[in-house]
Amino acid sequence: MTSKKTKAIIMAAGCGKRMKSNVPKVLHKIFDVELLKYVYDACFDIVDSSYIIVGHKAQVVENYCKSSLIKYKCILQYPQRGTGDAVKKVYNELDNFNGNVLVLCGDTPLIEKNTLESLIDYHNQNKSVCTVVTTEVIDPHGYGRIVRDKDNNLIEIVEEKDANEYQRSINEINGGIYCLDWQKIKQSFNELDCDNAQNEYYLTDIVLWAVKNNLKVSGYKIEDSVQLFGINSKRDLMKASTILKNKVIDCLLENGVTIYDRDTTWISLQTSIEPDTIILPNVYISGKNKIGKNCKIGPFTHIRGNVNIENNVKIGNFVELKNANVASNTNICHLSYIGDSEVGENVNIGAGTITANFNSITKEKNKTIIKNKVSIGSNSVLVAPVCVGENAMVGANSTVTKDVYNDSLYVTRSEEKIIKDYVKVKQKNMEGSC
Ligand code: UD1
Ligand code: MG
Repeated sequence: MTSKKTKAIIMAAGCGKRMKSNVPKVLHKIFDVELLKYVYDACFDIVDSSYIIVGHKAQVVENYCKSSLIKYKCILQYPQRGTGDAVKKVYNELDNFNGNVLVLCGDTPLIEKNTLESLIDYHNQNKSVCTVVTTEVIDPHGYGRIVRDKDNNLIEIVEEKDANEYQRSINEINGGIYCLDWQKIKQSFNELDCDNAQNEYYLTDIVLWAVKNNLKVSGYKIEDSVQLFGINSKRDLMKASTILKNKVIDCLLENGVTIYDRDTTWISLQTSIEPDTIILPNVYISGKNKIGKNCKIGPFTHIRGNVNIENNVKIGNFVELKNANVASNTNICHLSYIGDSEVGENVNIGAGTITANFNSITKEKNKTIIKNKVSIGSNSVLVAPVCVGENAMVGANSTVTKDVYNDSLYVTRSEEKIIKDYVKVKQKNMEGSC
């Protein structure tokens, strides 16, 4: 690995017209995580700090960065005059920087950390001034094409809109990710022009500039082309979500998790699942979660993040879990909502149980604690904050507002009444009045 200093520039200023949305493109989400965060996370461990170029709805993107990122600085690009102009905005900041600059597109969320590490190694080994990540795809539509000379050297990147027929037929595309030897390439940004079909300053033109100045340019070609999938439309966003979830599913299958149905199973990248757990169809798991061994999840389960499930747990149909720990051998099998909760071992949660965790007046979320060996009867509401003690039982249809002692029964059901022959007598009376 390199000992050279590395900084990142993440371009996130474009307006993303093709998304047809009020939300800035880089804040669209896959599994509840913003596209920008995927890119930022992929380079986080590799770089000292990141510059994030903001422009379209800059305040919204900056507010997001403030709430979710560290070690970054937002740089304003206004107006947005192309990717070359975007990188140039960091020119003054990097005046004395003597290292590599990794340039990434905020709309390419599937890039992986190990690819970026290999890119930097390749760049350093080749002593290149500019290394571009490329890949071959069946349908290159929309991407910049990689033009090589007869000796296979990268000589130019041509955007689709500027390409001639031959160039359009090239299947090797620009992934929009670059490693730059900043001091040697920085002059190129003063010499870019916007004499092209989009009337923009193209970052891709630095390749031609370097070639003309006899500086070494490399193309770092990767096999796993999906990592360079750029999101420009809602159709692309859906495709990227599917690519990501299929990668996660393949990895879980590889690690011994049983998954019944690929098409209807959605599991986030940040969820870990131990072997011999079975995931039934129509399960949606987002956010960061941990699921142990020999569990059965689904069908139709929704896990919304910050959920820790130990071993031998059953979570069944129409159960929603959020911010909860569920200890081993516990069953939550039907129609329940368990949020902000600690659920012990060997607990049985009856159908239709709700932890009422949100106080709509104070806007506070409160905690429900259910200790080991508890049995909660069907259709019960546990009004948090509340604790059900060990080995206690809650009668079906109870509303629990007070803590329940260990080993005791808590019932709030009104006393039962049986009126013998009630229906028969009523019916007879009706007949008599006709
Ligand atoms: C760009 C590349 C193309 C490459 C593709 C990979 C250029 C000229 N073209 O095309 O060769 O194959 O990415 O996905 O670079 N942005 C700014 N400021 C701007 C314009 C764009 O910050 O003025 C940002 C956008 O927010 C986006 C990224 O740069 O995150 C790329 O811009 P986009 O318009 O999506 O470029 P592509 O047409 O995809
Ligand atoms: Mg793009």
